[in-house]
Amino acid sequence: MKTIFRFFLIIIISGYPTVSCVPDVTTGEIADGGMVVTAHPEASSIGVEVLQKGGNAVDAAVAVEFALAVCYPRAGNIGGGGFVVYRNSNGAVDAIDYREMAPANAHRDMFLDEDGEVIENLSINSHKASGVPGTVAGMAELHGRYGSMPFHTLVEPAIKLALHGFPVTENQASAFNSNRERFLEVNAVPPAFVKDTPWTEGDTLVQTELAHTLQLIAEKGRDGFYKGEVADYIIKEMERGGGIITHDDLENYRPVWRKPVTGKYRDYRVISMSPPSSGGIALLQLLGKVEPYPLSEWGHNTVRTTHLMAEAERRVYADRSEHLGDPDFYPVPVEQLIDRDYLLERMSSFSMDAATPSEDVSPGEIAYRESEETTHYSIVDSERNAVAGTVTLNRSFGNFVVVPGAGFIMNNEMDDFSIKPGYPNMFGLIGGEANAIEPRKRMLSSMTPTILEKDGDLFMVVGTPGGSTIITSVFQTVLNVLEHKMGMQEAVNAPRWHHQWLPDVISAEPDAFKPGVREELEIIGHRFSERLSIGRVDAILVLPDGRLEGGADPRGDDTARGYNVPDPL
Ligand code: DON
Repeated sequence: MKTIFRFFLIIIISGYPTVSCVPDVTTGEIADGGMVVTAHPEASSIGVEVLQKGGNAVDAAVAVEFALAVCYPRAGNIGGGGFVVYRNSNGAVDAIDYREMAPANAHRDMFLDEDGEVIENLSINSHKASGVPGTVAGMAELHGRYGSMPFHTLVEPAIKLALHGFPVTENQASAFNSNRERFLEVNAVPPAFVKDTPWTEGDTLVQTELAHTLQLIAEKGRDGFYKGEVADYIIKEMERGGGIITHDDLENYRPVWRKPVTGKYRDYRVISMSPPSSGGIALLQLLGKVEPYPLSEWGHNTVRTTHLMAEAERRVYADRSEHLGDPDFYPVPVEQLIDRDYLLERMSSFSMDAATPSEDVSPGEIAYRESEETTHYSIVDSERNAVAGTVTLNRSFGNFVVVPGAGFIMNNEMDDFSIKPGYPNMFGLIGGEANAIEPRKRMLSSMTPTILEKDGDLFMVVGTPGGSTIITSVFQTVLNVLEHKMGMQEAVNAPRWHHQWLPDVISAEPDAFKPGVREELEIIGHRFSERLSIGRVDAILVLPDGRLEGGADPRGDDTARGYNVPDPL
C-alpha cells in the first residue's frame, strides 16, 4: 500500500532507504476506542491488542517499547533510552526520563587526544560511545506507577515476536544489507541481523538470544537486565571492546520522574519533555515566538510563514547550544527560557524583509549538540489517557555492538554530549559547559514527545525521530493542525524543512515549497540545502466528534492501528 507514496527512494545519513513523498492519502486511521501509532506494523498491532484486552495507554506503551526493541532494532531498544510524557484522562500530567547516563568512569575529555583534539568517531563508533542503558528501568518504573496489567504479560508479545520471528519490511531488508559489513566488523559473533544471503522483504528475522533476555526481564523486571546473566554479558562485551560501563553503573542506573514543561499557544496547552531534553523548551520557545503573527492567514510554507519560522528557529537553536543540559548537573533556566517577554525580546532583531545571518545571532543572555535514528510512538486509550514516547539508540543501530548472549544493540548516545566546546556532533549541533561530559550525567537530547490539550481535554499526541530536526518537525506538525487546519495524517504527510542556527541554512525536503517561494526566500538572504526526508512523525488527533485520527508517517513503515468500541448488543 505504502508503495503509492514512493516517489523518491533516498538514502539518509544512516544509509537507510526511505521515501520522500507527496502522499495522496490525507486521512489516517480513524477509530473511537483507542489508537496506537508506531514505526512498525507489528508493534502497533501489539499495542492495540493490549488496549482491546482492557490495558490502559501505559500498558500499551510498555508492550510497544519491548516490541519495538524486537521488530524495529535500528531504534527501538533495550540498550538505549528515552522519554515518555503522560497525560491521564483527568488532565494530570507526568514525565519519565530514562535517558542513558554517562558511566561513572566517564570524564570530560574522554573523546580527546593528548593535544585536546577530538579523536574522530570515538564518540560514535566505539564501545565507549555507549551510555548506561535506561529503557528497561524506565519501563519498569512507568509500569509501576501507571500500569494496570501484570508486567510480564506486556513483555510476552515481544518474547514471542523475537522467538518466532516476523517478516522484515523492504526498508529493513535494505538496512540490514547495507549495514552487514559494519555489524561483522564490530561484533566477534555475527548477530541475527547478518545472514549469508541478502535480506529481502518478507524474510523472517528470529532473535533467540533477545527472546531469552526479554524472558528474564518478564520474570524479574529491571533486575533481569541490570543484574545477573544479562549484566554479565554486557560487562564482558564492554571489556572485550574497551568500553567503560561497569556492573556498578548498571545497578545504579535510575530513571527520573520529571515535571513536564508546559505552556500555552493560543487556546491550546502544550505539555512536553523537560530537560535533559531540549525538546519541550525549544518547542515552547518556537511557538511563543510565532504566536503574535497571523500564520493561518499567511498560509503553509509560504515566503512569510517560512521566513518567520526559520528566524525563530535560528534563535532557539542558539539558546539550546548554551543554556541546556542535564538539570541534575546544570542549572537550566527553564522558566526564563520560555518567558513571554524574553521570547519577544529575542525576536526584536527580526525583520520581515531580511534573514538575520546566524553569525549575528548569539545565544540569549541567560541556554550543545546531537543526531538520526530514534523512534516515536503515540498512544491513546478508551479513557483518553495518552502516552507520547520517544526512544533512541542515537544513530541508527547505535554503535552496532550486539551484546553476545543477550542479542540487543547498544546505544552510542555519548555523542549527544558536547565532547569539546563548539565541536559539532554527528548532526551538526554544538554545545558547551551545560552539556559537557561528567560521570553519571545525562546527555542533552532533542526528543520532543508532546501532548496538547484544548479546553481541558486531550487534543493531540505527537513526536518524531530525527536528531536536531525533531524539534522543528514537531513544531511544523503542530502548526499544520492548529494554524493550517490540516487533519492528522495530512499534517504528518506535509513536506518539512529545518533550520538550526548553525549551519545557517534551511534544509528542506524536495517538495517543501511551491514554485517561486524558495527563490523569494533566497532574495531576502536565506540559503537552502536539500534533504530527501526529515523525521517520521507518529501522532494522534482527537476529532471534534471525539473519535481519534492516527497520523502514521509514510516516510517509513509507520502504522496506525485503532479499534472501535464494540456496539452494545
Ligand atoms: O536524543 C537525541 O536528541 C538524539 N540522540 C536523537 C537521535 C535521533 O533522533 C536519530 N533519529 N532519527
